[in-house]
Amino acid sequence: MSTEATRPADRAVGVIGAGRMGVGIAQIFAAGGFRVHLVDPIDDARAKVPERLAAITARRRQAADVVDRVSLHATAPAEIAGCVLVIEAAPETVELKQRIFRDLDARCGPEVVLATNTSVIPVSRVATDVRHPGRVLGMHFWNPPYAVRLVEVIQAERTDPALIAPAMALLAEVGQKPVHVRKDVPGFIGNRLQHALKREAIALVENGVCDAETVDFVVKNSFGARLGLMGPLEQSDLVGLGLTLAIHSVLLSDLDCSRAPQRLLVDKVAAGETGAAVGRGFRDWTPEARAELENRLDAALLDAAGGSGETKNTG
Ligand SMILES: NC(=O)c1ccc[n+]([C@@H]2O[C@H](COP(=O)([O-])OP(=O)(O)OC[C@H]3O[C@@H](n4cnc5c(N)ncnc54)[C@H](O)[C@@H]3O)[C@@H](O)[C@H]2O)c1
Repeated sequence: MSTEATRPADRAVGVIGAGRMGVGIAQIFAAGGFRVHLVDPIDDARAKVPERLAAITARRRQAADVVDRVSLHATAPAEIAGCVLVIEAAPETVELKQRIFRDLDARCGPEVVLATNTSVIPVSRVATDVRHPGRVLGMHFWNPPYAVRLVEVIQAERTDPALIAPAMALLAEVGQKPVHVRKDVPGFIGNRLQHALKREAIALVENGVCDAETVDFVVKNSFGARLGLMGPLEQSDLVGLGLTLAIHSVLLSDLDCSRAPQRLLVDKVAAGETGAAVGRGFRDWTPEARAELENRLDAALLDAAGGSGETKNTG
């Protein structure tokens, strides 16, 4: 993957799937000067793209013509073979992703890097059936990708190690913050941490220790307030590892260690209480409350993304 000599305008990126993540990822590369081929077979999904691209571009206070660099397609166009990178952001289903990778692998020469934005599926499972597994890696963006800048770059067992540094350079070039994940473990780094916390949160509610609102209140008003400034291991060092050891000696044996989705979550999904979109999940929602939180979150995250210069580009 060449990142230096060529101007972005001469390079193209493919994005497969024009949903929540795909449109944001397309906008990032278009804003970075790349041409973007955005592919989605669903008419309704494609119909929403121009308005969503324009809204993200306006939110980022970028020139409106950024969106002109994105072309929309129902199926992968011939130009996909000339892209430096193709990122798959289709639904989180192994079989679908495998099918997309088989197709991309057949269409693109081995010099085209293929990346999956899967949240938790190991990259090696997505790339089981490709002729050139060396050019497949994970690029796990966060939502919304233009405001939460981290991208986990996952090196699977068969990924060519020489691809990692240029892939990270490309992401940094368009303003993202790449980190190298050296093992292809499910959930990578961020989602393992996030879901370890969710497991305990659900257990606290399930066991009657507190209600869901209290869990959220405690997190937001205690360690959650610090997390964007200081990671958990920095915090351990700061207070001293002796204290962490003393706490773990008492606490770890009591923490939830369910090895399957917990009953409370399973029952809620079975009852149709699937979250803010339907008005009830762990918490109750009105459409106004949901919109207010999403807008406030987007604005605060965009502010933070503009303000923080911290990067971590280790290979
Ligand atoms: N939403 C998040 O917070 C988040 C964060 C990080 C990673 N991800 C991952 O990104 C991927 C996409 O998630 P999303 O939230 O954007 O989902 P989404 O449902 O919003 O978008 C998926 C899009 O893929 C399209 N699609 C369906 N079949 C397709 C096909 N055969 N080829 C191409 N496109 C197809 C759908 O029409 C839809 O527009 C998933 O793997 C998800 O786990 C999601």
